[in-house]
Amino acid sequence: MSMFKDMLKDTESLFTTNVEALDFDYLPKLVPFREAEQKQIANCIKPLFQKRNGRNILVHGKPGIGKTVAIKHILKELEEETDEIFPIYINCWQTTTSFKIMIEICNQLGYKFTQNKKTEELTKVVKDIINQNSGAVIIFDEIDKVEDTDFLYLLLEEVYRKTIILITNYKSWFTQVDERTRSRLIPDLLEFKEYTEQETIEILKARMQYAFVPNVWDDDAFNLLAKKAAEMKDIRTGLFLIKEAGQIAEDKSKKKIEKEDALQAITKLESFSIKSSNDLVDIEKEILEMIKKNNEMKIGDLFKMYAAKGKDISYRTFQRRIKKLEEGKFINIQKLDGGAEGKTSIIKYGESKKLTDF
Ligand SMILES: Nc1ncnc2c1ncn2[C@@H]1O[C@H](COP(=O)(O)OP(=O)(O)OP(=O)(O)O)[C@@H](O)[C@H]1O
Ligand SMILES: [Mg+2]
Repeated sequence: MSMFKDMLKDTESLFTTNVEALDFDYLPKLVPFREAEQKQIANCIKPLFQKRNGRNILVHGKPGIGKTVAIKHILKELEEETDEIFPIYINCWQTTTSFKIMIEICNQLGYKFTQNKKTEELTKVVKDIINQNSGAVIIFDEIDKVEDTDFLYLLLEEVYRKTIILITNYKSWFTQVDERTRSRLIPDLLEFKEYTEQETIEILKARMQYAFVPNVWDDDAFNLLAKKAAEMKDIRTGLFLIKEAGQIAEDKSKKKIEKEDALQAITKLESFSIKSSNDLVDIEKEILEMIKKNNEMKIGDLFKMYAAKGKDISYRTFQRRIKKLEEGKFINIQKLDGGAEGKTSIIKYGESKKLTDF
């Protein structure tokens, strides 16, 4: 075990004890360049402070540009300001049905007796708790991932004072929500635009300075990575690259992070997608290729197209392959609910490839 003994001795690190500042879900003290957006959201919440109903808002924009962090930041400030207005945050990627969402809201409201209760009973609990106070700010992040939207209707009907904030990469998601819910929600629209190169550099620099010992970064190396993130228009990619380059340099016991380390981190980013698409079996590659050529098609139509090529495959198997492609972040599935044909899914070619799985 001499290998590990050496590691224990080696206490010098390029990272500070605040290395978590490079985590994707780290909440920085400041969220620069999003003040205007935060102000608009705060204005929607403001009526709650005067015991009136708040306004709702639909926040949209590309991945990795600060939607979640800006809004979580507002929730934190709200919590520090008052105990009367409940802050509730739900990630609809993890919590996909009305039933699960109501349980989660109960949990966040501190109500524990959710066992054996149906959606309606849970809704009543939520309604009673919130209505006895000044209201709630309820955030549904990644809203396009929900399987049904009944919970929205229920909250809109039952809770007197609330601001509902929906966050999505796809503004178009809203157009297929059922009419009853849409006409009650009537949200303000807020687009988060991509950061400029200069803004990207500044945001990443602040996180870098917090997570690394002073002067360990060679300027060229850092700029290379910040520019790569700006090119990809995604702060999350930048954070990944910075952490990776630091790790690469540290593994070589270097005292400085140089351009070669930055370049190696970039290769890692590239080789990740190449490697994992090699991991796909042929049939998945074929399906992926077809999705690339026919972006944003309904799953049923894609299946028909695939079957028309003379492929002998059941719909269930096709769905499983699609699921696997989604898990590998090669594609996105947008669930549509309602409409003449009932539920369906729109398949989008890997637009929002996330780095959370590295
Ligand atoms: N203005 C900013 N200041 C500090 N950090 C930021 C800023 N904007 C984004 N980030 C950081 O970049 C990462 C991605 O941001 P965030 O998770 O908010 O993206 P998003 O827009 O919600 O993306 P997605 O649509 O994929 O969920 C996070 O780690 C976040 O802390
Ligand atoms: Mg987000």
